[in-house]
Amino acid sequence: MLSQKMQDALNAQIQAEAYSAWLYLGMAAHAEQLNLRGMAHWLRVQHQEELGHAYKLFDFVHERGGKVALRTLEAPPAEYGTPLQLFEQVYKHEQHVTSLIHKLYETAAAEKDLATQVFLNWFVTEQVEEEASALEIVEKLKMIPEKSGAMFQLDKELGKRGQD
Ligand code: FEO
Repeated sequence: MLSQKMQDALNAQIQAEAYSAWLYLGMAAHAEQLNLRGMAHWLRVQHQEELGHAYKLFDFVHERGGKVALRTLEAPPAEYGTPLQLFEQVYKHEQHVTSLIHKLYETAAAEKDLATQVFLNWFVTEQVEEEASALEIVEKLKMIPEKSGAMFQLDKELGKRGQD
């Protein structure tokens, strides 16, 4: 059985993951407006991954006999700037989510909830990958001019996400 504190913290993380999904869909819309269809695709895949994270938490709360309580989602920003600024925001957001996961893990440890700690291991590892893939794109974008063949190539490459 989950403690009330643990349940509240897991419900807050469901909200954070659902907001991440919403944010990445907003970013995908921005990339579409910039005619960067590959980036838009990458961000839509990210949107779906975030929904997957929310579902994982949702299922876990139920498995533990807890109660899911969905919360209001804020609207994401409408503008994200250049492709580099956009992916810098992706990276920053993932760093923020990493800190939330770490705090959740600390709560599980303080509550002596071993099952939740084991469950959260997957998220800890996932965040390492999420940050690394966002940072890799940021670093590539720093090296290329905004309206260039290299940008077109990178966009094409990002459009292949999920196909390998
Ligand atoms: Fe669910 Fe990108 O963190």
